Amino acid sequence: MAGFKTLDDLGDVTGKVALVRVDLNLPMKDGSATDVTRVEAAKPTILELSEKGAKVILLAHFGRPKGARSSVLSTSMVQGDVERVLGKEIMFIPEVAGPVAAQAIGILSAGDIGLMDNVRFWPGEEANDAEFAKAIAANADFYVNDAFSAAHRAHATTEGLAHVLPAYAGRAMEKELKALDAALGTPQPPVAAVVGGAKVSTKLAVLENLVGKVQHLIIGGGMANTFLAAKGVDVGKSLCEHDLTDTANAIMARADESGCTVHLPYDVVVAKEFAANPPSLRTCNVHEVAADEMILDVGPLATEALGDVLKTCATLVWNGPMGAFETPPFDAATVALARMAAALTQEGSLISVAGGGDTVAALAHAGVTDDVTYISTAGGAFLEWMEGKELPGVAALSK
Ligand code: 3PG
Repeated sequence: MAGFKTLDDLGDVTGKVALVRVDLNLPMKDGSATDVTRVEAAKPTILELSEKGAKVILLAHFGRPKGARSSVLSTSMVQGDVERVLGKEIMFIPEVAGPVAAQAIGILSAGDIGLMDNVRFWPGEEANDAEFAKAIAANADFYVNDAFSAAHRAHATTEGLAHVLPAYAGRAMEKELKALDAALGTPQPPVAAVVGGAKVSTKLAVLENLVGKVQHLIIGGGMANTFLAAKGVDVGKSLCEHDLTDTANAIMARADESGCTVHLPYDVVVAKEFAANPPSLRTCNVHEVAADEMILDVGPLATEALGDVLKTCATLVWNGPMGAFETPPFDAATVALARMAAALTQEGSLISVAGGGDTVAALAHAGVTDDVTYISTAGGAFLEWMEGKELPGVAALSK
């Protein structure tokens, strides 16, 4: 992993102005956040800098306002949530640069925290305009990026600022990069990757990258149907991207060449309708799916065998559920495999790193959130990392 500076490399920061990029893109309902995990993740960095006497200025985006102000997308919407998590009052600053921002920062005392308005209200943010970055930097002494989940964006506050101010990784960023490095950068083999979710088309680049890096590729969810179809299995009326069967075959061929075993379910849970506990529910061999049935989960025999695969592995990286886990009983394979991964992690034989979209919810549903090595709350950034792409926000810190 390329080197980057952390808060440990900072000297005396008393009275200095720290621009801290955090991810406050929180899911909202009725004016307050339904999940403050991202604030909790940034809390150690914010409080550490505040306790060391810096003036901590938070920079964040909120939604996609496309370069114009919008009252509902002001970061003031999440100010209360941030204050609650930090247990401290913070000052809202309605600008990010210029005299108003300078004056507000001037009012703050050492250790105080300010929250600037949505950086995406200014077109310079998404354009990664160097002048815009310089204008923000003009009021500050150093820059800390603690927003891994926005690091796939080459924007002024996720990337540009690292070129105009001394740049450091915050504690959450540091933890995330170490965990990801342990999972795919320099992992301990054998490595297993679980890739699930509905569609192959959204994860083609992920699969192509993984087959060259891991020893076991476990494919679940709707994606598995496309692979099964590519192998000539009749998947009935299952979700399946028939136009991608050639691609699926090419991925399996590449896996073969690089010594990666692709695991597809050989028994499955099927039903004629997609509903909770439907009367037509049954478990069968993949070759026995009827024309009017759809595959909704990996079957118990295959799940057990996958658990045995995990027992032989030292590292696991997981993205996407194995079945339609939000609708019972199609959560069974996801829950069983997640619990197996958690147990092996707790025993000390497996390093398990999971992330992206539904995965966090799926592991929480299995009750193992605290028992795996690391769960990333990043969505797009986690996927791009699994694709093997360099994330601009991370690269700028490592320069
Ligand atoms: C996220 O919610 O995944 C990040 O905050 C990035 O948001 P974006 O997709 O709008 O860039």
